[in-house]
Amino acid sequence: MSQFNPNLPLSQASTIPATWYLSPEIAERERRLIFSQTWQFVGRLEQLEQKGSFLTAEIANEPILIVRGNDGELRGFYNVCRHRAALLMTGECGTVDKLRCRYHGWTYDLAGKLRGVPEWDGVENFTREENGLVPITVAVWNRFIWVHLGQPTQTLEEFLSPLVEWAKQNDLGSLVWHSRKIYDLKCNWKLYCDNYLDGGYHVHTIHPGLASVIDYSKYKTNIFEYASVQTTPLEGTDSQSNVSKTRKGQASYWFVYPNFMLNHSQGVMDTNWVLPIDTDRCRVIFDFYFDAQIPPEFCQESIAVAEQVQAEDIQICEDVQKGLRSRSYSTGRFSVKREIAGYHFHRLLAHHLDWESGSAN
Ligand code: FES
Ligand SMILES: [Fe+2]
Repeated sequence: MSQFNPNLPLSQASTIPATWYLSPEIAERERRLIFSQTWQFVGRLEQLEQKGSFLTAEIANEPILIVRGNDGELRGFYNVCRHRAALLMTGECGTVDKLRCRYHGWTYDLAGKLRGVPEWDGVENFTREENGLVPITVAVWNRFIWVHLGQPTQTLEEFLSPLVEWAKQNDLGSLVWHSRKIYDLKCNWKLYCDNYLDGGYHVHTIHPGLASVIDYSKYKTNIFEYASVQTTPLEGTDSQSNVSKTRKGQASYWFVYPNFMLNHSQGVMDTNWVLPIDTDRCRVIFDFYFDAQIPPEFCQESIAVAEQVQAEDIQICEDVQKGLRSRSYSTGRFSVKREIAGYHFHRLLAHHLDWESGSAN
């Protein structure tokens, strides 16, 4: 950890070392100290509207289950049967009237209580009360469902601040979910975040289409405790281009540490959920939202623009992953003008990864 100095001003700072993108030990620390100790996006409220609807996810290598109970409450659990640790619910989502383990048929109700235990006569020192599903903390903000695998020291809204206030002013609640796309990348999850957080530095070089609508001289970055936002006016003049047609007004690119992004411009929004898979692989899940008045053709054109930008980002991120493996590279410097959010991200990473230094672990 000593290779990164988080106390330098941006003008003197260097990035986290390349080894942090390659090392299984760092990935393990990230699971334990970052993904298990921060609020984590896990899904959308629209997926869990009915009683008995559930979704599954994996956060920090932990199988997670979110269920809407018969009382209307959302509850989160480890998706692990108390008998032999079979994954309780399989599949991404669905609707059930009870949670039945497919291995030996133990059943839990929608509140996680153990109800049915076949062939259990004669078992001593066992109570159903003590063998319910293990709960986790769930909270909802603006239709997004989040979990916390540790002991949260801040409410979800405090953690997300000032995104919460901004979302109210921009009426995000009125946008309607349209579709989801999933991308698998051959790079460390942090590289995808780094690329997002370079303050528009790569827009002209990597995204010529997007560059044609961005007024780069007015591109700004602001950082907060666990979030940052990059903003720019969108001023495309070519009325024929998809980018100009679908990217108007003011763009806001919000990052919520460590792995959630929310991109918004007039009537158009997408969220990006970045999931580590391995040291050199990650998955990025895009959810697209539009104003309810927007016609379907516009939505398709807008998604095509996002897919083009994503294809350009994927290629550069995968290239960088290869470069980071080179013996010629260990750390790099930051543009003072552009890369404040990237340094902020690295400082947060270093702070969390070092949490236990000096302790018995
Ligand atoms: S592992 Fe679930 S019932 Fe045996
Ligand atoms: Fe990009």
